Amino acid sequence: MQDITAPQGMKLASWTHAISQSTIQQLLAVATQPDILSFALGLPAAELFPTEAYAEATAHVLTTQHHALQYGMPCEILKHFIVQLMALRGVVCNSKQVFLTTGAQQAMSLLSRLLLDRYAPVLVEETIYSGILQAVEPLQPQLLTVPTDLETGMDLDAVEALLASGHHPAFIYAISDGHNPLGVSLSLEKRQRLVALARQYGIPILEDDAYGFLYYDDEPLPPLRALEEDWVFYIGSFSKILAPALRVGWMIVPESLISVLSALKEGSDINTATLSQRTIAAYLEMGQLPNHIADLRQAYRFRRDTMLRAMTTYFPAGTRCSQPANGMFLWVELPEMVDMEMLLKIAVEQKKIAFVPGWAFSVKRNHAIDRSMRLNFSCCNPERIIYGIGRLGELLSDAI
Ligand SMILES: Cc1ncc(COP(=O)(O)O)c(C=O)c1O
Repeated sequence: MQDITAPQGMKLASWTHAISQSTIQQLLAVATQPDILSFALGLPAAELFPTEAYAEATAHVLTTQHHALQYGMPCEILKHFIVQLMALRGVVCNSKQVFLTTGAQQAMSLLSRLLLDRYAPVLVEETIYSGILQAVEPLQPQLLTVPTDLETGMDLDAVEALLASGHHPAFIYAISDGHNPLGVSLSLEKRQRLVALARQYGIPILEDDAYGFLYYDDEPLPPLRALEEDWVFYIGSFSKILAPALRVGWMIVPESLISVLSALKEGSDINTATLSQRTIAAYLEMGQLPNHIADLRQAYRFRRDTMLRAMTTYFPAGTRCSQPANGMFLWVELPEMVDMEMLLKIAVEQKKIAFVPGWAFSVKRNHAIDRSMRLNFSCCNPERIIYGIGRLGELLSDAI
């Protein structure tokens, strides 16, 4: 953790003493250097951004809509398109339940502020996307944790045991598809059981579906929101299916909560960037998103398979790896303990390869996590994946 030093005599809010930039943000500086081959971040493949079509959409908006550069109300047409997108995920909703946000990250922050009292408990997995921890941090919550099975997802026996013993978390955070960092998707049986528990105990679920559209094998399973309307707050994003720089996401929430969420959002950033909302709507109007997502799925499936094959060739025998059906990440457990911090340092300095050590995502540290790493497979092309996994493999053979 970095030391936070306030100018002399200045008192910072007490909760900020516990915060630091996430390891991922710190890695951003390293991993985006041109000479580094990065498996570290959750970056979409830049060469696959639909730049031409998006430029056309932007030019159209700027030349025809006078208010595109103005403060603005949430874009109604965009909400209607999101309702159609949600139908592709099997979610039935209407545009009055759609709340536009500045990315999925803001959705998490707003919902945390809506649902969580200071010091109250929230339920998260022991190994989890650090963004949710940053969203709840200002409220200094009590973190209740449950383990995750690498094949079927969140341990629901543990969830049920916590709830049955009287804990009443403000919400449960769940990534049903393409878990970040573990790569796992919740089994259908667990999805049904999780929403049943939410209903039974009256606990809202924040369903983070950042990777739901990026499925690679069979037909995707229904998100939790398709199984339960009242207790699931669905969070979606254009970051991974269009481009993260646009900073647009959305939530599907009960209509009755839209006005309080609007007030919370106003205090946070007034409104989601008007230009992004309108250009996304114009791009969606061109009807190209479904084909673009299909292209991404094909490209990322190939990259995932390339990485898995390369690991079989180059990584030490006994390495365990998730087989993700969605998303952008492989979770790798090495057969023996290694000093991950040192490994990362050498990987970056000598081999020019970056990854994220597993502990960067741990709320509750354990032995398996200390010999784990998260690898992104979406960002590098297949040739670079083979090259990079080969070089990492060399390093691991020396270390193990
Ligand atoms: C699970 C998960 N949720 C949310 C986000 C943040 O998404 P956005 O760019 O929409 O804020 C990410 C980004 O990597 C993510 O992996």
